[in-house]
Amino acid sequence: MSDLANHPAEHRVPELFAAAREVQSRAYAPYSHFHVGAAILTTTGRIYACCNVENAAYPVSTCAEAGAISMMIAGGDDSIAAVLTICDGDEVGTCCGGCRQRVREFSSPTTAIYACGPEGVRAVFTMDGLLPVSFGPDNLRGFVK
Ligand code: THU
Repeated sequence: MSDLANHPAEHRVPELFAAAREVQSRAYAPYSHFHVGAAILTTTGRIYACCNVENAAYPVSTCAEAGAISMMIAGGDDSIAAVLTICDGDEVGTCCGGCRQRVREFSSPTTAIYACGPEGVRAVFTMDGLLPVSFGPDNLRGFVK
């Protein structure tokens, strides 16, 4: 975990939390009963939020972060300053491995990732902290025609 108290996104955390909390209440999770909300703050200052959407064919389910990224792209943004997730339970709920890679596509190493419970922020990480030495678009530069 990093000390991100002075991260540029810090003053937007209350807004991100409210947005994530609202969509968490609309999560479609009849199988896991694990309701997640995710809110993205873009470097342009916009906020996009989504919840997890499960499916009777379990692997087709989508995480809250994946939905929020789709909303961001559809909204015309592609640069993430911060991500805030909220889930229930006693543990610190960070992005799953797949979502770390999804977020990384649109992030910088210092993108802040806030992991929240119902009461507020439980832990803060950087993108690089959650997915060190990661693979990303730069690795494909020169290969993609
Ligand atoms: N889930 C998310 O939405 N985001 C994560 O980063 C972790 C897991 C969802 C997927 C599934 O609907 C439920 O939580 C249980 O894994």
